[in-house]
Amino acid sequence: MADRRDPGLTLDRLEKVFHRRGQEPVVAVGGIDLVVGQGELLGLLGPSGCGKSTTLRMIAGLEEPTGGDIRIGARSLVGLPPHQRDVAVAFENYALYPPLTVEENIAFGMRARKEANAAARAREVAERLGISALLGRKPGGLSSGQKQAVSLARAIVRKPSVLLLDEPLSHLDAAERDSTRRELKRLQKETGYTTVLVTHDQQEALSLADRIAVMNAGALQQVGTAEEVYDHPANLFVADFVGEPRMNLLPGRLQPGTDGASTMVLSDAVRVVLPGAVGLGEQPVTLGIRPQDVRIVPPAEPGAVAATVFAYEPLQEFGRLTVLLPGVEQRLVIETHHDYWAAGGDAVGLRFDPARTHLFDGTSGARLAWDYRPGGPPSRPSSPATVSS
Ligand SMILES: Nc1ncnc2c1ncn2[C@@H]1O[C@H](COP(=O)(O)OP(=O)(O)O)[C@@H](O)[C@H]1O
Ligand SMILES: [Mg+2]
Repeated sequence: MADRRDPGLTLDRLEKVFHRRGQEPVVAVGGIDLVVGQGELLGLLGPSGCGKSTTLRMIAGLEEPTGGDIRIGARSLVGLPPHQRDVAVAFENYALYPPLTVEENIAFGMRARKEANAAARAREVAERLGISALLGRKPGGLSSGQKQAVSLARAIVRKPSVLLLDEPLSHLDAAERDSTRRELKRLQKETGYTTVLVTHDQQEALSLADRIAVMNAGALQQVGTAEEVYDHPANLFVADFVGEPRMNLLPGRLQPGTDGASTMVLSDAVRVVLPGAVGLGEQPVTLGIRPQDVRIVPPAEPGAVAATVFAYEPLQEFGRLTVLLPGVEQRLVIETHHDYWAAGGDAVGLRFDPARTHLFDGTSGARLAWDYRPGGPPSRPSSPATVSS
C-alpha cells in the first residue's frame, strides 16, 4: 500500500488562459498549486465559471495547460494523450455510446484493454451504485440521472491512478443523490483511488471530501478539511461562500485597546468588545459571525446590545431571526432554538461568541489572526465578547 501522504496528484502552478480572436484573454485557471494525497478525495468547490472544469480537463488531457505542470507521483502528464494518463473521468455530460448496453458501456474500457472479468466487475459496480436493473438497456432510454450513474460506474470500474468527477451527482434526484453519494464515498475509500471531485454544492463537498479546495476566479482561496474551512475561513470569499445559512459579514473599524481587548466599531451606537483581540492596529475590518454563534439575551442585560427584530421565521428545526442594529445598514441573521418566538419590532439583546467571531482585513479581505483566550486576558476577569450600544 502506498503511504497516504505520498503525493498522489500534484498541480504545479497550473495555468490556462483562453485566447480568442478579437476578445480579451480569459484566465480560466491562474496558476494553482495543489497536492492531492494518495487515496485522498479532494473536493474542488467554487461558483460557476471559477475554473473547476478547466482544471479537471487539463488533468484528464482534454485541455492543454498554458503553464505549469501536472504530475502523478513524479511522472509529468503534460503532453501525454488522455489514454496514456491512467486517469478516469466522469463528466457532467456522460458521453455514453448509444449502440452499446449499459453493461457494455461500463465494461468498454476494460474490454479494450483486454482485462479479465470485465463483465463481472461491471455488474459489481452497477450493483453498488444501484443500477443493476439497467445493465441490459441502451443509454437512449435512460433518464439523465441514470446516465450519470452509468458514467460514474464506467469511471470507477477502470481502476485508475486518479479519478476525476465533475459534478457527478448533479442530474440525480434528491433520493438518488443521497444513496449514490454514500455508495460513492464507500467505493472511493475501499478502492483508495486518488480522487478530485468538482462541485458547486458545498453540502456535497463537505459530506464527501477528505479536504476541500475552495476556488474563485481561477485562484485557490483555501485548502483544508471541512472544519478548517468552516471554522477558519482564510478570507471573505470563503467566509461568505461556505456555510448555510451564510455568515453575517459586517464592515466596521477595529480599535485596539490597551488591556488585551479590541473594540469593533460597527456604528456610532454599536461596539463589539473582543477580549483577547490583540496585536492588531486601528484599521477597517469586516467582522464575521455565523447565525448559530449569536446568542439572544434580554435587551436590558448589561453589555448586550439592544437590537430590533425585523422578522422572525419559525422553520422546522430552528428559527431564523433577522434583526436591525442601530446605525448599521446590514441586517443580522441569527439562528434560534426552534421554540423561540419574536415579532417584528420587538427589542432583543445580543451577545457574540468571541471564540467564533472572525475578523477580516477591510481592504484585502484576508483573515486577521487574533489570539482569543477564553476567559480574556490575565489582567481582567473572564468576560464574554459584548455588544453594547
Ligand atoms: N473553451 C473555452 N474558451 C474560452 N473560454 C472558456 C473555455 N472554457 C472555459 N472558458 C472560460 O473559463 C472560465 C472557467 O470555466 P470552467 O472551468 O468551465 O468553470 P467551472 O467549471 O468552475 O464552472 C469561464 O470564464 C469560462 O467561460
Ligand atoms: Mg464546470
